[in-house]
Amino acid sequence: MNLLDVSNVVAGYGETEILHGVSVTVEQGEIVTIIGPNGSGKSTLLKAIIGLVQTKQGQVSFRGEDITGMAPDLIVRKGICYVPQSSNVFSSLTIHENLEMGAFVRTDDYRHRIAEAYDLFPDLAERPNERAGRLSGGQRQMLALARALMLDPILLLLDEPSAGLAPNMVSLVLDKILGINRTGVAMLLLEQNAHEALKLSNRGYVLASGQNQIEDRGENLLGNPEVARLYLGG
Ligand SMILES: Nc1ncnc2c1ncn2[C@@H]1O[C@H](COP(=O)(O)OP(=O)(O)OP(=O)(O)O)[C@@H](O)[C@H]1O
Ligand SMILES: [Mg+2]
Repeated sequence: MNLLDVSNVVAGYGETEILHGVSVTVEQGEIVTIIGPNGSGKSTLLKAIIGLVQTKQGQVSFRGEDITGMAPDLIVRKGICYVPQSSNVFSSLTIHENLEMGAFVRTDDYRHRIAEAYDLFPDLAERPNERAGRLSGGQRQMLALARALMLDPILLLLDEPSAGLAPNMVSLVLDKILGINRTGVAMLLLEQNAHEALKLSNRGYVLASGQNQIEDRGENLLGNPEVARLYLGG
């Protein structure tokens, strides 16, 4: 059984259909990256998985359970956490308050989760009382990742976590993603920095015009001349 099984999903906004039958799987502990041109429906796919966009046909299953059409907050409780590309932290709140907000729906003692997040992100631990709005783009993405960990996710959906960052920050963010993955969290990742992302991915998909085009192991996609020409700047 796959951890996540997206099968022939058709979804869009109002009358406009964006995804025309997309299928993606993620297995326990995997990093799976989706690349593809702007506007191909990558972000829409993540929103359909987490329930922010209505799935009109097809099915989304998580750990064998059909979650198609379920409310986002219920899906989150099942262990999927979604980190959107922007507005993913509260600018007016401090780092620490953002982490507490991330743990908001937890009813148990979550202090150990905050301690673990600070271990993983020492830059954040250094200044818990800094407002998120004063952080650099890279640090803000780190905070968004740390915040997502508050709910002990089984699967993270990450929408271009390294977009717009300086190259050294891109590597650092992807490094953290790998670190989180090594604690057992599976990742479905969207990335513009396709080369770097595929290097650390088990598998990858190319999505274009709302349809799957190519699916392969990360290293095979990196070595695929067509993928290189179209998406890797090679
Ligand atoms: N809220 C919305 N309402 C209507 N159309 C939308 C909405 N969000 C996105 N779209 C449209 O859906 C299509 C796919 O957008 P989506 O954001 O999923 O693409 P993407 O692959 O994530 O692109 P990018 O690489 O630029 O992030 C685009 O044509 C976009 O204009
Ligand atoms: Mg997008």
